[in-house]
Amino acid sequence: MTTAAATAVTQLRSEALAALEAAPDQRTLDAWRVEYLGRKGKLTGVLRGLAELSIDERKAIGAAANALKIELEAAYDARTEELRHKSISEALEHGKIDITLPAHPHRRGRLHPVTQTLREFLEAFRSMGFSIVEGPEVELDYYNFEALRIPPDHPARDMWDTLWVDYEKDGRRPMLLRTHTSPAQIRIMEEHKPPIRVAVPGRAYRFEATDTTHEWMMTQVEVLAIDEGLSLAHMKGTLLGVMRRLFGSERRIRLQCSYFPFVEPGAEVAMDCFVCSGAGCATCHGSGWIEMGGAGMVHPEILENMGIDSSRYTGFAAGMGIERLAMQLYGVPDMRYFYQNDLRVLQQF
Ligand code: DAH
Repeated sequence: MTTAAATAVTQLRSEALAALEAAPDQRTLDAWRVEYLGRKGKLTGVLRGLAELSIDERKAIGAAANALKIELEAAYDARTEELRHKSISEALEHGKIDITLPAHPHRRGRLHPVTQTLREFLEAFRSMGFSIVEGPEVELDYYNFEALRIPPDHPARDMWDTLWVDYEKDGRRPMLLRTHTSPAQIRIMEEHKPPIRVAVPGRAYRFEATDTTHEWMMTQVEVLAIDEGLSLAHMKGTLLGVMRRLFGSERRIRLQCSYFPFVEPGAEVAMDCFVCSGAGCATCHGSGWIEMGGAGMVHPEILENMGIDSSRYTGFAAGMGIERLAMQLYGVPDMRYFYQNDLRVLQQF
């Protein structure tokens, strides 16, 4: 093959292979493919030119051109593969991971200190056979006050600065944000007959100025037990058991006469300070005692109103604030810290 056509094929071969070798990336490769092997490409051009040649030449050049086509296609595939490997190893080199570097820390959430305290408190009651139930936060005046023997205009209403909800339901009295969890007592007595043993956790709201030991929202647990033969001794034993479980087996409890319209007798409950055991320290503000809440024997009139025979059944009730317990447990000096959601505070628990 010494003809011009044969030379053209040989030239085309070396030109194509050189261009392929020089192609730095896939885009150039694609362009190369179009240029040499495409329908209007250079190799096709050679094949088209065959028509003008003699039969012998046509055979020889045709065979050579077809062989070149196969060769170039194989070379194209090889170069493609080569470039692919090159870019992978470049990426690997570039994005090398240093496995000796420390890992990113896993951030774990945790329960709010008030929730933690509440759960421990409820668990203590549960272990004594109390069921945990809940009541609504938006309450009827009837449950929050009247059914608890606090009629409208009764001076005892001054004990609770109330956040009223401008809303009337069922043509009954206006609604409010419950000022304590005690309304749950009435709701439970409406639906259950004695024996009753329940603990009711929940939020209560008061319209009052905040300070280190007061918030307008607080978490309470209401306790109610009704059965034959229950006395103040059972009440004291129950509360003492719970406090000893939470704050240590040495704890003592103090009941001081107090007035709540829904109990008779009523008492303020305090526990001897678990830091100084009653001697007086910063935790208990020098008094030796920590206020826990109110308690008493369910007023017989309430039992009767709820259809419970007060000559047969007696009951005790208590209401305790969880934030104050949490303050004591964790040594938090200001109740307001709990709800400012400052992570620097909350992360400590
Ligand atoms: N509900 C009262 C309050 O928040 C606390 C209380 C006192 C609850 C005496 C009781 C109780 O169950 O018997 O001020």
